[in-house]
Amino acid sequence: MKFNTKTIHGGQHDVDPAYGSVMPPIYQTSTYSQSTPGGHKGFEYSRSANPTRSLLEKSLASIENGTYGLAFGSGLAAIDAVLKLLKPGDEVVSTNDLYGGSYRLFTKIFEGFGIKFNFIGMENANNIENHISEKTKLIWVETPTNPMMNIIDIKAAAKIAKKHKIMLAVDNTFATPYLQQPLDLGADIVMHSATKYLGGHSDVVLGALVVKNKEIAEKLYFIQNASGAVCGPQDSFLVLRGIKTLHIRMQRHCENGKAVAEYLRNHPKIEKVYWPGFEDHPNHKIAKEQMKDFGGMISFVTKGNNYDEAIKIIENLKIFTLAESLGGVESLAGHPASMTHASIPKEEREKIGIVDSMIRLSVGIEDIDDLIVDLKQAIG
Ligand SMILES: Cc1ncc(COP(=O)(O)O)c(C=O)c1O
Repeated sequence: MKFNTKTIHGGQHDVDPAYGSVMPPIYQTSTYSQSTPGGHKGFEYSRSANPTRSLLEKSLASIENGTYGLAFGSGLAAIDAVLKLLKPGDEVVSTNDLYGGSYRLFTKIFEGFGIKFNFIGMENANNIENHISEKTKLIWVETPTNPMMNIIDIKAAAKIAKKHKIMLAVDNTFATPYLQQPLDLGADIVMHSATKYLGGHSDVVLGALVVKNKEIAEKLYFIQNASGAVCGPQDSFLVLRGIKTLHIRMQRHCENGKAVAEYLRNHPKIEKVYWPGFEDHPNHKIAKEQMKDFGGMISFVTKGNNYDEAIKIIENLKIFTLAESLGGVESLAGHPASMTHASIPKEEREKIGIVDSMIRLSVGIEDIDDLIVDLKQAIG
């Protein structure tokens, strides 16, 4: 199956052996009857497995060209499960420009359990190798990065990971498998905040992992069941439904994203626009190689880097809603320094370019003319 067919049918054979419903049934149950101890139909207890969640996990594996999918209660719960593969004393080399919540989980929870994180710039992937020691067990990559839209060469990172026998995990939330499939580029684990583009309608919080390797999959399934951060059947259904339109939504997100990025770039009051589709983006060539298109996430900074002016723009927006999150059909605007990335200390934030006047847009799939008119009236 090709990608656009997989979003609808991937891993979804015989979704309802009982009645043949075309859409997956929502098995709203915690437990399953047994004829004798162990005499069940493949499901015992819904923390361990639930038929609706299992269908979602198969769909996730299919669209990421993986073998095993795992669904969690949130993106951070999925990351948490990956980190539980490690032991005290292990080290992680991570992108320094990453989602603030991931940074918080790494530094505020797992550093306390004796895991060491090296946050580094990965725009030049060779830099990763300079930070690897014999204790390094995991490379954590987010690309495009949030909110700087840096691009990291997944193939080059995978080569380094293989050479040193280290796992490579890629947070594929921004790109989605429509644009980029990290397992095909050599990654071991793909992670998603399915809350974003996979769900696609800002109505569910859910996380996902996809792997090819059986041994890693078995360890992760063990952690999923043992730690128990699973998602419910209703939420699994919502993401299954979202995935069915991922390809057409992403196509429009990319078209609208390009138009917005170009509009902002030509605006006299805008200093800089961060979007990997620009030919002068530092890793545009790699983006072109590893991504099908450039997505609908854009960050920009106003001239003079004025905090109050940036806040005024955000407050003036009418169609773009000021809100956390991204990846829904509706356009959202955010202020990383005070919202998504507030958990990163100001000094660290500014080192990587997240200045106080930065605005991040998740460009939705409304009519592009209306989005441009909205930005025009808000920026003035
Ligand atoms: C890139 C990225 N990774 C991970 C997460 C965490 O996902 P969740 O909010 O579903 O826990 C987010 C959430 O904003 C994100 O943007």
